[in-house]
Amino acid sequence: MIYLDAAATTLQKPSAVSRAVCRALREQTSPGRGGHSASMKAADVVWQCREIAARFFSVKAPEQIVFTMNATHGLNVAIKSLVGPGDRVVVSSFEHNSVIRPLHRVGADLIVARSPLFDAPAAVAAYEAQITPETKLVVLNHASNVFGYVLPAMEIARICKARGVAFLLDASQSAGALPIDATALGADFIAMPGHKGLYGPQGTGLLICKHTPTTTLIEGGTGSDATRREMPDHLPDRLEAGTPNMPGINGLLAGLRFVERRQAQILQHERALTQRLIEGLRQLPNMQLYAAQDSNFQIGVLSLNLAGIDCETIAAALDEQGVAVRAGLHCAPLAHESAGTLEIGTVRISVSAFNTSREVDAFLRILEKIGKNLRKSERNLH
Ligand code: ALA
Repeated sequence: MIYLDAAATTLQKPSAVSRAVCRALREQTSPGRGGHSASMKAADVVWQCREIAARFFSVKAPEQIVFTMNATHGLNVAIKSLVGPGDRVVVSSFEHNSVIRPLHRVGADLIVARSPLFDAPAAVAAYEAQITPETKLVVLNHASNVFGYVLPAMEIARICKARGVAFLLDASQSAGALPIDATALGADFIAMPGHKGLYGPQGTGLLICKHTPTTTLIEGGTGSDATRREMPDHLPDRLEAGTPNMPGINGLLAGLRFVERRQAQILQHERALTQRLIEGLRQLPNMQLYAAQDSNFQIGVLSLNLAGIDCETIAAALDEQGVAVRAGLHCAPLAHESAGTLEIGTVRISVSAFNTSREVDAFLRILEKIGKNLRKSERNLH
């Protein structure tokens, strides 16, 4: 299989990840739930994982790293601790439903800072215009899961700092792929999954917290402060009720070690593959490609359409030829609205550190053939 759906989940992982998951199942129980060696081993891994994540994302203290089930979980914690009914929240026009739905659920006054695809100055101007003294929270999708568009996080973080507004960064597509300096950004929260660019297993995620939130999403045992009815008031315990996902955290630790050692190479490799894809795709007939002119605003996620052919039909034909991509709206209708693709969706291609230029070339050949065949069958139908 040529796997080009890393934006959903990276399928190829470093071999150390599956070894770590299996080791956890064999050797570890749960941290803080016993003084025996199986529990202590788990506690050690949890701490190591917090430490490496803190270093990798330039977070002051490992305690500020909270384990979550996925990015959606972290985003829900952040949003529900900061926002109440009627609160003004400014978001980009590229947000995922993992941001839009929790905001809708809490009854926020949702303001979309609309700007076109791949226009970072326009995105900054839109936030500048929409952030008012009443604004309670600003949310930014660091990189679009549909178009790979890198939004200007640092500039928008600066506006939030200057105006004293809380800032939440959704790093679902950027974590591992782009450098993220949490301290420089000064974001109140940064949410990310473990199963994409950090090469961990599904069911893992990290929430970087600048402060301890007053409210919690779920309550329960933490292995600490057992006599209190309230959740502990310190991080990470306050946000980590219940037995943690130890196989997942072990795998995530292995993934983080992999990424930390070679982040610059991964970025370079994915950029080179993306440029190769862009150049190849531009040669294909009837191609509608959504790509940035400046590669600094593009990660390894690209969307396309072949004029007149349904995106799901293309994805199904690719799948028949052994190529995995994702088509449709990608849980991000707002992003599609901004790009003018809400009615038709797109075919999304996304790469990871494990893809090769050979795979890119093979994909381009397969797509060209599919395009010709589908067009031929269209013509025969009419
Ligand atoms: N948000 C993930 C995607 O874009 C699952 O496919």
